[in-house]
Amino acid sequence: MKVTVVGAGAVGATCADNIARKQLCDELVIVDIKEGVAEGKAMDLLQTAQIEGFDTKIIGSTNDYTKTANTDVAVITSGIPRKPGMTREELIGINAGIVKTVAQNILQHSPNAIIIVISNPMDTMTYLALKSTGLPKNRIIGMGGALDSARFRYNLSQAMKCSPNDLQASVIGGHGDTTMIPLTRLATYMGMPVSNFLDEEALKKVAADTMVGGATLTNLLGTSAWYAPGAAGAMLVESILRDEKRIVPCCVALDGEYGQSEICLGVPVVVGRNGWERIVDYKLNDEEQAAFNKSAEAVRSMNAVLETLGV
Ligand code: 2OP
Repeated sequence: MKVTVVGAGAVGATCADNIARKQLCDELVIVDIKEGVAEGKAMDLLQTAQIEGFDTKIIGSTNDYTKTANTDVAVITSGIPRKPGMTREELIGINAGIVKTVAQNILQHSPNAIIIVISNPMDTMTYLALKSTGLPKNRIIGMGGALDSARFRYNLSQAMKCSPNDLQASVIGGHGDTTMIPLTRLATYMGMPVSNFLDEEALKKVAADTMVGGATLTNLLGTSAWYAPGAAGAMLVESILRDEKRIVPCCVALDGEYGQSEICLGVPVVVGRNGWERIVDYKLNDEEQAAFNKSAEAVRSMNAVLETLGV
């Protein structure tokens, strides 16, 4: 199996690190446009091989996509990250052209690759990757919901003083501070509704903290986060390559599901060897569906910006 991670910044490098440590593939290629950076990260990672006990072959490449040939899964992390005070949406002007070019370069050498999109604004970049490549929809997966759901579990676990591993909780909708929808009603602690343990005010705070999870980290770090985004990308790679068929909230093309079409948005999907294989219906209540529709509206107007940018 072969995986390519495009973008050797903090998110891409963390994703590559997770992929290597978990031995998810035989060959891992890291690509970056900055001369020598991908080669350097590959060498640094390879020097952890003896310590971590993996033997994945890792190759760094300065923008030479011939090295990525026959990739099974490609993770796109390229583009600029948020700075404090910026929304993910403000990155569209720069990142759209980059993501489109990267997706095309990958497919030129790996026509069967499954593409995972991490670059922001993630919902619009996923839609752009789908539209500009014309790939079957199951082969384009936006990572946002996987990350936001991990942050939701983190915030719940902090409030409930319990292990995040004993929680089930999903965030659907867009990967934006105002577009994501933490599904509090469906969140459980070993099968019991979390509302048995937290009152409404506490649950509202957990949801609000989750929605600004990325912004909180950007303010603390001075740039956007990388450990959880990189690990979430690697989790998707794992579910694909090991055909785990895990249910993960991801940004995928909707064709009437959840009442929306002509858009990529976060919903729970089964992730396996064919990419995302099936959308799971949470049967939203009226309030949740209204929030989902509102989220779709916001993402749709961001997608419309692609036309003004001419990409
Ligand atoms: C985040 O939320 C990078 O969008 C990503 O941290």
